[in-house]
Amino acid sequence: MISRLGYLKELGIDAIWLSPFYRSPNKDGGYDVADPRDVDPRFGTMHDAEALIEQAHKNGLRIIVDIVPNHFSTEHRWFKEALSSAPGSTARQRFHFYDGRGEFGEIPPNNWNSIFGGPAWSRIIERNGQPGQWYLHLFDSTQADLNWNNSDVREDFEETLRFWLDKGVDGFRIDVAHGLVKEEILKDHRDPEALSRALRLDVSGMSREERETLMTDVPFFDREGVHEIYRDWRKILDSYSGERMSVAEAFVYPSIRGTRYVRSDELHQIFNFDFLIAEWNAQTLIAAIEKTLHEVSEVGAPPTWVLCNHDSPRVVTRLGGGELGARKARAMALLIHSLPGGIYIYQGEELGLEDAMLPDEARQDPVFFRTKGADKGRDGARVPIPWNSERTFGFTSARSWLPIPEEWRGKDVENQKLDSSSSLSLYKESLRIRASHPALQKSDSADVSQSITWLQAPDGVLAFRREPDFISVANTTDQEQTLEISGEILQSYPLGFQEVVPFR
Ligand code: NOJ
Repeated sequence: MISRLGYLKELGIDAIWLSPFYRSPNKDGGYDVADPRDVDPRFGTMHDAEALIEQAHKNGLRIIVDIVPNHFSTEHRWFKEALSSAPGSTARQRFHFYDGRGEFGEIPPNNWNSIFGGPAWSRIIERNGQPGQWYLHLFDSTQADLNWNNSDVREDFEETLRFWLDKGVDGFRIDVAHGLVKEEILKDHRDPEALSRALRLDVSGMSREERETLMTDVPFFDREGVHEIYRDWRKILDSYSGERMSVAEAFVYPSIRGTRYVRSDELHQIFNFDFLIAEWNAQTLIAAIEKTLHEVSEVGAPPTWVLCNHDSPRVVTRLGGGELGARKARAMALLIHSLPGGIYIYQGEELGLEDAMLPDEARQDPVFFRTKGADKGRDGARVPIPWNSERTFGFTSARSWLPIPEEWRGKDVENQKLDSSSSLSLYKESLRIRASHPALQKSDSADVSQSITWLQAPDGVLAFRREPDFISVANTTDQEQTLEISGEILQSYPLGFQEVVPFR
C-alpha cells in the first residue's frame, strides 16, 4: 500500500478510505472485526499501519479508517466470553442474546432475516452441551450484533476512536451507522424476506411502492437512539487537533432522514447513494442532484457523490457494460466531479473496470453462501486493480485474494498511464480541474443549494453553471444536441472535442 501512495497522489485525491484491516477471520471482507485495535497479519503489522499514516501525510494524503460498531466477529474475545458465560450474564448483555420460542426454545426469538439472507438469529450450544439461547446477527452468523444499551460497548468504541485518532488518522467511515440501536426486538416483521431483499437492493419483481413502504420503517435501522452516540463521538473528534472527520454509511429512507446524521453536532458527511442506482437520464440526474443539494443545505453539511463502492456493481457494469456502459460511466464521472461537495472514488473506478465474472469456487462473499448462490454477492466488484500486465498483475504473490481476469491485461494502471485517452487519464484531468478551477473551489459554501444554476437545455441534456465561469454539460441522449453557450472547453468526453477552442 505504501508503495502505491505515489499513484494515489498522482490521481489527484485528497484522502484514502481504508476498509477494515483489523484482526478478523475475514468472513465478510474484514467487516467481522475480532479486534478493532489490532492489524490483521494478512495486511501487516501495527508498525505498517503507523508507517502508512505517516507516509500518506507526507504525501499530502489523509487517512480515513472504517469503524464497524454494529457487530463484532464471533471470534472477538467478548463473544467467546459470552459463550462460556450463563444466560443473563454481563458477558451476554453486550450482545443480543434471547431465549427461543416454542416448547424447547427451538424457534428464533423473532422472524427477522439477515440482510445477507437466511435467519438473523443463530442458536448456541450452552456449556452443558445442550442447544441454548439465540443471538442476533443482522449480517452473517459470524457477525454478532452489539447491544448499544450496554455501557461496555459504548466505552469500548470510544476507546477505539481515540486509539486510531492518537495514531493520527484523519477520520472514520462508520459502517451501518443507522443500525446500532434496535427497537421492539421481540416483535415479528410482516415480510422479513422482502425486507432483506429490499435492503440488499435485490428488488427484481418488487414494486417501487412496496420497496418504499418496507424501507420506511425498518425496526433495526434509523432509530432515534443512534444520534446520541454520534453526538458523543463528535465531541471526541472535536477534542483532537487538526481536522478530523466522520462519514456515515446510513442507507435510510426517505433520504431526508439522512440529514439528521449530519446535524452540526453529529457526523460530518453521509454517503449519498442516489448515484449508485441512478439511470443515465437527464431528468433523473437533475432530480437527484437537486434533492441532494437541497437536503444537505438544510443542515449545512457538504453533499457527497458516489458512483460505486465495494457493496454495489461497478458503475460501468451497472450502466449496461461494454463500450456504451464505459462511455456513460465516464460522462457520469465528469458530471459529479463538477458538483460541489465530496466525491468518493472506488478502487478501479478510475480505470473504468467492470465487474469481473468469477467462478463460484472463487467467491468469498457471505451473501453468496447465505442465499445459496441465488444472489452472487459483491465479489465481482471487489477484484483488485491490475497494476501492470505482468503475470501477477503487479501483485507480489502469485494470486490476489480474488482472481484478476485475464481480459484486464491492457486495462492495467501502467498501460492507462501511457494512454491519454484512457479512463485513468480522464479521471486525473478531471480531478486536476476540480482542484484548481476557482469556480470549483467553493465546494464548501454553507448554502450549497445555491451553488449551481441550471441552464436552459434541450430534453435529455443537463447543463449548469458554477459561478462565476464554469459550465458543466452532459448529453444523456444518443443524438447530437445543440446548446448555445460560449467559452473554452476544459475537458470533454467523447474525445475528439478536446482541443481548447472557443465555441458556440
Ligand atoms: C456495510 C459494508 O459496506 C459491507 O461491506 C458489510 O458487509 C456490511 N456493512 C456489514 O458490516
